[in-house]
Amino acid sequence: MQNIILKEVDSTNLYAKKNLEVLADKTIVQALKQNFGHGRLNREWIDLGNGNLFLSFVLKPSSEFSKNYSNLTQYLSVVLCERLDKYGLEAYIKWPNDVQVNGKKIAGILSETVMQGSEFKGLVLGIGVNLKAELNDLKKITEQKATAFNIELGREVNLEEFKSELVKAFFDNYDEFLLNGFEYIKEKYIKRANFLNKLVKVETIHGIKQGLVKSVNDLGELVLDNEGKEFVITTGDVYIIERE
Ligand code: BTN
Repeated sequence: MQNIILKEVDSTNLYAKKNLEVLADKTIVQALKQNFGHGRLNREWIDLGNGNLFLSFVLKPSSEFSKNYSNLTQYLSVVLCERLDKYGLEAYIKWPNDVQVNGKKIAGILSETVMQGSEFKGLVLGIGVNLKAELNDLKKITEQKATAFNIELGREVNLEEFKSELVKAFFDNYDEFLLNGFEYIKEKYIKRANFLNKLVKVETIHGIKQGLVKSVNDLGELVLDNEGKEFVITTGDVYIIERE
């Protein structure tokens, strides 16, 4: 497995996408400093300074796209939650793949598909984990409340150690996941889901949908109930509506 460590880059996802042709399957691209990190829905991923994880997996599992690839972000979110367990942190998932501790986001995951015309070239699966942050810097993150390992644990975590454990855990069950898709992780995902049976608002590309979360189906999609009418949501941003 090729392991690239860059001192500084615009974005590990951008780097991996630009160089996809020459990078081997399962290459890991890590940056120690990321100047133009991006997240889901065109949001910025802020670099919180030295000691944080900015990583992209270059994945070229086949010459054709498979529907199971769409759930890789959810697979990685479950793998990450299990890593957090080892550090004594109770981690939950906000659909589809935000990992939270104490209701605050500690990591973000972004998958990008690379196509050349209609030809599938591969995937770049990026993850940013807040390992070390100052409280004041976390306030710069406006998308949702954020936290970091050092704040939750009261001590620092070694970046290289955390990274190699995460990468190992990811590849441990990767082939099995690709064969079986979301159903392979569904039970573990559901146990981590903090949005089930909650009233939510979801911002989708088709507008805002509101309803009670009934389930996550076998494809990892969100199933909402709005006064007896069912909506299946494939992508969007979930906001839990607090009731008085
Ligand atoms: C999100 O929560 O919206 C996803 C954030 C993904 C951030 C990571 S950091 C490493 C990789 N490079 C990027 O530019 N983005 C991902």
